[in-house]
Amino acid sequence: MAPVTSLTASVHQRLATALSAALPEAAADPLLRRSDRADFQANGILALAKKAKANPRELATQVVARVESGDVIKDIEVSGPGFLNITITDSAITRNLAARYTDADGRLGVPYAEHPGTTVIDYAQPNVAKEMHVGHLRSAVIGDAVVQILEFTGENVVRRHHIGDWGTQFGMLIQYLDEHPHELDHKADTEDTAASGEEAMSNLDRLYKAARKLFDADEEFKTRARRRVVDLQAGDPHTLAAWQKFVDESKIYFFSVFEKLDMEIRDPDIVGESGYNDMLDETCRLLEESGVAVRSEGALCVFFDDIKGPDGNPVPLIVQKSDGGYGYAATDLSAIRDRVFNLKANTLLYVVDARQSLHFRMVFETARRAGWLGDDVKALQLAFGTVLGKDGKPFKTREGETVRLVDLLDEAIDRATAVVREKDTQHQLSEEEIAERGTQVGIGAVKYADLSTSASRDYKFDLDQMVSLNGDTSVYLQYAYARIRSILRKAGETRPAAHPELELAAAERALGLHIDGFAETLAETATEYAPHKLAAYLYQLAALYTSFYDKCPVLKADTPAQVENRLFLCDLTARTLHQGMALLGIRTPERL
Ligand code: ARG
Repeated sequence: MAPVTSLTASVHQRLATALSAALPEAAADPLLRRSDRADFQANGILALAKKAKANPRELATQVVARVESGDVIKDIEVSGPGFLNITITDSAITRNLAARYTDADGRLGVPYAEHPGTTVIDYAQPNVAKEMHVGHLRSAVIGDAVVQILEFTGENVVRRHHIGDWGTQFGMLIQYLDEHPHELDHKADTEDTAASGEEAMSNLDRLYKAARKLFDADEEFKTRARRRVVDLQAGDPHTLAAWQKFVDESKIYFFSVFEKLDMEIRDPDIVGESGYNDMLDETCRLLEESGVAVRSEGALCVFFDDIKGPDGNPVPLIVQKSDGGYGYAATDLSAIRDRVFNLKANTLLYVVDARQSLHFRMVFETARRAGWLGDDVKALQLAFGTVLGKDGKPFKTREGETVRLVDLLDEAIDRATAVVREKDTQHQLSEEEIAERGTQVGIGAVKYADLSTSASRDYKFDLDQMVSLNGDTSVYLQYAYARIRSILRKAGETRPAAHPELELAAAERALGLHIDGFAETLAETATEYAPHKLAAYLYQLAALYTSFYDKCPVLKADTPAQVENRLFLCDLTARTLHQGMALLGIRTPERL
């Protein structure tokens, strides 16, 4: 089934044709917008008339005379200084929606992007032997949504989880494990991922703290630990095997958190810092040979005219330290080479905290100078803001420590479970169902709160607000979905069916026109990497549905055809909600 041409697109087309007939010399964009006065308003004529030194109202009148209304445009009139107000026929709305409804691909008539490419997206990148915190939550949630949205447009998406699995701290950890070989053993042999994840993290955490304590107190241990760093970098097999234990143990923990987040992370996509080890020498050699990087006090550095520290001295990107060690920058530069030349990326996307923006600016610029990023490759950081507590300060526990992501998710699930239980006044849900819905609502609430604000902004982590049934929350959307599903169940034998011959009520038109705009919202969301636009669309969809439902009886509508047509509107709303929420990584339970 072919994708459906939206009403916006067909009205746009009709206006553009009429415009260029009336004003042949201009590249004419009628600037079509949804409008409250009519269905659409075109504002482009004013500027075009000005350019052509024509009278805007006259030009508008000429356009109106030339527009092919077909069976799409019911009414078109000039208003104000030269705007056009356009009203669509009811039948065109219903026919368009029907085409979306019956789209055999199940894509609701949404077309694929015209020129898909390959995007390598770097997201969900926690650090080995360390707890995950709220910053890792944002990268994972935003990244996962962007992956789903891009894939839906037909983009070839390669996921990369650039975990922090390399660095000098491993010397100390490995040495400690060598001296205390059972510290990472699991006591319980369990199938429960959450439990083994917890145990893995508590083992790692205990070991980390003990190793750090010894490192700070015992000079001889410090020396042994430092020697271990050298062994690790030299690829000593015994040392590498110990390092691998830390990575594996951490992955048990990471996967347990991602599972709790209801997110699919695949092992082969985890290519951490260590994965680029073999490239580091060459990366530095190429940079030095081409003169992009220069030696400065022994370190290999790249300088930038516009990047200076508070003292006015240039701040370089250090690619290799004076002791020969490589850091974060060398790894990221090597990763760029891999992603561009091996993975053939057209777009490199990094979902990383805004506090790393300077790093990425310097890394991208260096890669451009080195010729690794050409004009045909776009590199950008989807920089996200900080998660704040209710008090507007960076999110901390009462004791001032960073909040463990797991605790936060558990609390969200607890709160949501309480809401689900409270709402179930008729006691229709079993304990198991309450727990399952509670999880879906709680995790959905956390994801939605993150995704419904633009990524670059800081946002307040406020669980009370997140699980509230009123307002712009996922719970509100999930309830809207469940209510529609319940109406469809109640309809029993009566099936939803489109009846384009029927006149539509104002609330039906508003809902229908909004549903028709789904594809355009998705396209915008994908090109701008802006999941909050999809979230805002879905929230408005639920709101328009609510007012439709208040004003238009569905099962008790006047005629059988009207019942069917309204059921059809209900079903299409539900499908659109379901699809949109799925792209945000949020479940829509059938009953709540
Ligand atoms: N592991 C890093 C952190 O926790 C994020 C890695 C971001 N990705 C990258 N290619 N540098 O801050």
